[in-house]
Amino acid sequence: MTTGRGIVVRSCGMAVPDKILTNDDLAATLDTSDTWIAERTGIRERHIGGTTSSLAAQAGRQALERAGLGPEDIDALVLATTTPDALVPATASTVQQLLGLRNVGALNINAACSGFIFGLVVSAGLAATGTDRILLVGADTLSRITDWDDRTIAVLVGDGAGAVVIEAVEGPGNLLSHNLQADGSLRHLLSCDLGGYLYMNGKEIFRSAVRVVVESAEHALRDAGLGVDDIAMFVPHQANLRIIQAACQRLGIPEDKTAVVIDRYGNTSSASIPLALDDVVSTGRVRDGDLVLFSGFGGGMSWASAVLRWGA
Ligand code: ACO
Repeated sequence: MTTGRGIVVRSCGMAVPDKILTNDDLAATLDTSDTWIAERTGIRERHIGGTTSSLAAQAGRQALERAGLGPEDIDALVLATTTPDALVPATASTVQQLLGLRNVGALNINAACSGFIFGLVVSAGLAATGTDRILLVGADTLSRITDWDDRTIAVLVGDGAGAVVIEAVEGPGNLLSHNLQADGSLRHLLSCDLGGYLYMNGKEIFRSAVRVVVESAEHALRDAGLGVDDIAMFVPHQANLRIIQAACQRLGIPEDKTAVVIDRYGNTSSASIPLALDDVVSTGRVRDGDLVLFSGFGGGMSWASAVLRWGA
């Protein structure tokens, strides 16, 4: 056991399938329209296809390359996913093999769309107890559990993966605060039975989502001893542009300090936050030393926020 260790994030990576499905493509088979989808959700297109393990491995490989590391340098793999390739084995094991990692511990976490933040905190725990380098991936293929004849859900989802390389450091490190929460009494709002399709009560989730995002983001800021003006970039879960805008308005975060990729990717669940993170890092909107606020919510219901200082 090693105590008194924190984490830094060295790099990120992402992957989406090649196939793009536009709103017009959906409107060709469903009673919907580009206007309805864009106005109600902010989504214009999404990428569909692949498997959770293949997307996770692709994103993980890019994060490793950008960190200048090889598979032999990783000591644990944490995969946040709601859509594993199979119930058994854990998809993390498949990703371990695809990436050629040593026989390190590899585990799945399911906290739906909050999964990446849960994974960040679990990774910090692994680092605190002696693991030196962790590859954290958020990957989902919601398209596989979607009823493509149901317009209330089909227009929302997309597939993808995002990854970060996390390193243990002596001292407090760069994860400044976090909170993880769940309320199983709300599990009926978003569910998928084994072998079934995703069901969602969109209206009720919308109501709860804005409140929990704001409360947990404020909680994370308070715990870090920070004000909202200290934050360089807000990276929220990408479920609906209107949810993001409502949360930003209540938190007092301006648009130019908010990562938005929902127009291109739709709701990619566990992948949504790391995909948005990769976008703002690779376009130079987040630089070393910047404070990043993450906030996510999803099935469970689960919700979570964290404040991270970007860079090693
Ligand atoms: N195209 C056209 N019309 C539609 C569509 C569609 N795709 N879907 C629903 N409608 C219709 C409805 O039937 C309804 O018609 P009516 O007024 O005649 O009854 C009308 O549009 C309005 O429907 P609402 O459900 O009230 O639309 P709303 O503005 O609430 O938007 C949405 C629906 C986009 C689902 C929104 O509620 C939402 O984003 N909720 C949150 C989703 C979310 O955050 N999920 C959690 C994460 S997902 C995850 O974890 C995997």
